Amino acid sequence: METTYIMVKPDGVQRGLVGEIIQRFERKGLQLVGLKQVIASEEIAKTHYAVHAERPFFPGLIKFVTSGPVVCMAWSGRDAISVARNLIGPTNGREAAPGTIRGDFGMDIGYNMIHGSDATDTAEFELGLWFPEGVNDWNQDSQSWVYE
Ligand code: RTP
Ligand code: MG
Repeated sequence: METTYIMVKPDGVQRGLVGEIIQRFERKGLQLVGLKQVIASEEIAKTHYAVHAERPFFPGLIKFVTSGPVVCMAWSGRDAISVARNLIGPTNGREAAPGTIRGDFGMDIGYNMIHGSDATDTAEFELGLWFPEGVNDWNQDSQSWVYE
């Protein structure tokens, strides 16, 4: 089992896509183990995107990610990192296949609505960064909650 860090970016929150995005992860069979809305500080945004610090789009990316609330999530499941990346689709929404989140809702590389960890080490780093309090360890068993 893996846990991945997923974040609805400010454009996804502003466009009212939070519910739609959560639904896709739930329907896929991933388990929600962490969820909160935060307005990211410049410090946390720069740490999160440190790998892109030298790229020309970095200042704009930091301004964008700190511009309003983001929704931070942790999702668990078998191969959760790659499963989530497949649900999300490639970076540029115009090139992303229909059926993916970016393919269905995105038209821009910068405004691509959602972030997903890309490897085991980045997932661990990002979960520690955004969920320093930890995520929730719980057993999901929907059938046992149909009748009291
Ligand atoms: P993410 O990290 O947000 O899940 O996205 P990703 O892996 O698909 O893309 P990545 O290469 O890690 O880039 C991080 C974010 O930077 C913005 N970006 N802008 N204007 C540009 O050329 C450009 N390239 C990247 C995007 O918001 C991308 O998600
Ligand atoms: Mg990335």
